[in-house]
Amino acid sequence: MGKLSLMVDKTIQMPPSIVKESIDFITSMWGQITPSVSIICGSGWGEIVQAFPSTRSLNYSDIPGIGDTTVEGHAGKLILTDFDGIQVLIFQGRRHLYEGVSWDLIRFPILLSYELNSKTVLLTNAAGGISSDFKVGDIMVLNDHINFMNENPLIGSVVHPDIPRFPDQTKIYDPKLINNILKIGSDQEITIRKGIYLALSGPAFETPAEIQAFAKLGADAVGMSTVPEAMVANALGMRVVALSCISNLAAGISKHSLSHKDVEEASKKALPHMKALVLSFITSVEKNH
Ligand code: HPA
Repeated sequence: MGKLSLMVDKTIQMPPSIVKESIDFITSMWGQITPSVSIICGSGWGEIVQAFPSTRSLNYSDIPGIGDTTVEGHAGKLILTDFDGIQVLIFQGRRHLYEGVSWDLIRFPILLSYELNSKTVLLTNAAGGISSDFKVGDIMVLNDHINFMNENPLIGSVVHPDIPRFPDQTKIYDPKLINNILKIGSDQEITIRKGIYLALSGPAFETPAEIQAFAKLGADAVGMSTVPEAMVANALGMRVVALSCISNLAAGISKHSLSHKDVEEASKKALPHMKALVLSFITSVEKNH
C-alpha cells in the first residue's frame, strides 16, 4: 500500500451513535451528569483544573470516539467538577487540524457537550500577539475571528440534525459573556484585551510577511485552533466565549524565533490569571443567563 492511501478522508463522518456510546461510557463511570458549562483547554490552559477544589477524571483513551491527544501540553483527560453549584465538564487537551485528524475528532467535544445539554462553551488557546498593544502573558477575549484554515468544520452531509445548512455567524462570541469576562478582568485587575483571532491550520508558525498581512486585515492574534469548535457550537445555538493567552509576539514582531516550548512557558506564567478568570467566569455565568 502506498503512503498516500493512509491520508485521512475528512468528509467521512463517524456515526452519531458514537457520541451516545461515549455518553453511555461516561455515565457508567460517573452516573448521570448535568454539566452546564464545558471548557476546552488549549496549550497551557489544562493546568486551570488545579484551581477546582475537587475533580473526577477519565482518560480520553478510555472514552469511545474521543481519540487521544498527540501534542505536548494537552493531557488527554476529561474532567468533571462541581463548583459553586455548577457542574463543569473540562476537556484537558484538544485535537487540531494539523494533527491530520478528521473533523470528527475536532468536533467531538462540542457534540458531546451539546448532547449532555451543556449550554455554554468556554474555548481557550495560546496565541501569537499581532496587535501592537499586546504583551506576552496578556489575555484576550475574542470578539470575532477570521477563518484562514482553508477548511470548514461544517462541510459534510449532516454534522448534526440541529445544525442548519447555512448557519449565521454574525455573533459567534456571545456579547454578554464577553462583557462578563471584561468585568471580571476590571474587578480583579487582570488586563483583558478584546480582539480578533485569526486561525490557520498550522503546524508551521507564520512568516513575518504573513503576520504583516494579517495585521492589515484586522487580526489582533493568530493561532491554530478554537475557530472550528466555535463554529460548531455557534451553529448548534450554544453560547460561546473564547480566551487566548498571548504566549508570544507573532513572527517578525517578536525579536526571537518561535518555539512550542516558549509558548508553554509563557502560558505557565499567566496561569494565576487564567485560573482566577475561569473560576469567576463559572460563578458569573448562570447569574447572567
Ligand atoms: N502562531 C500560531 N499559533 C500560535 C502562536 C503563533 O505565534 N503562538 C501560540 N500559538
